[in-house]
Amino acid sequence: MKNVFLTVKENRPLTNDFYKMVLEGECSGHTAGMFVNIKLQDFTLRRPFGIADADNHSITLLYKVVGLGTKYMTTLQNGVIIDVLTCLGNGFNLGKASKPLLIGGGTGIAPLFKLAKELKSKYPNIILGFRTHEDVCMIHEFSEFGNVHVTTDDGSYGYKGNVLSYLKSTGIVYDYYYACGPLVMLKNLTSIDKNGELSLESRMGCGFGACMGCSIKTKSGYKRVCKEGPVFNASEVIFDEQT
Ligand SMILES: Cc1cc2nc3c(=O)[nH]c(=O)nc-3n(C[C@H](O)[C@H](O)[C@H](O)COP(=O)(O)OP(=O)(O)OC[C@H]3O[C@@H](n4cnc5c(N)ncnc54)[C@H](O)[C@@H]3O)c2cc1C
Ligand code: FES
Repeated sequence: MKNVFLTVKENRPLTNDFYKMVLEGECSGHTAGMFVNIKLQDFTLRRPFGIADADNHSITLLYKVVGLGTKYMTTLQNGVIIDVLTCLGNGFNLGKASKPLLIGGGTGIAPLFKLAKELKSKYPNIILGFRTHEDVCMIHEFSEFGNVHVTTDDGSYGYKGNVLSYLKSTGIVYDYYYACGPLVMLKNLTSIDKNGELSLESRMGCGFGACMGCSIKTKSGYKRVCKEGPVFNASEVIFDEQT
């Protein structure tokens, strides 16, 4: 974990409620799947976001406006300095796949972007799922790194249906997957195939392992999403029956 102070370089909407924020400053050591926890003025709890892209001088976030914190984030102008805890979590295991498949649902596309970039030489298949055409974004950017397939629930863009019905209906060849998205999507994915990794999101308190607030059930007991995760082996996670 590193505590850095980064400057907003870009903060703009990609769709009605999904934003791209680029933060600049000294910040090395990120691997695909890690996340940041950012301090917002007047908010006690930090907000966690997957690292969509990063190099030694910048971090890119893709965030959806869902509540007061993310709404406030949309007002941050270029030049504002933000307190960021970074290099959090474990990240994806890139060595596992020779024919990778990336599956992102909604905001789950965010951590997959850096992963796609790093797996570029294996030209991964990338399935991106959205509710409707108004939510579709980042297609051209992902296309630089792999073969992109788009689904929308209402069929207004790409395949009509969700990422899993698409996966089942096509003969995409892969030997290992990396997925991030709504819990129900991840749960249903593991019922089809457990040979992959899931990046999980859970409500967080401290964000660095101290409060146990983010614990999830696994086959080897409770684990903290912020510390032992956010990436877990698909065969390891135990989902609630209600999910
Ligand atoms: C490891 C991780 C990576 C994430 N990556 C992304 C990403 O790349 N893009 C993105 O759009 N969102 C991501 N999220 C979800 C994002 O953290 C929440 O949407 C955000 O914190 C909501 O803040 P808010 O103040 O707008 O919402 P509010 O609902 O007002 O937040 C109230 C409190 O609940 C917490 N909270 C609310 N929703 C979530 C959630 N889904 N997960 C964790 N805490 C939550 C907030 O941190 C805050 O403490 C990620 C979450 C985790 C745990
Ligand atoms: S958020 Fe505190 S232990 Fe994970």
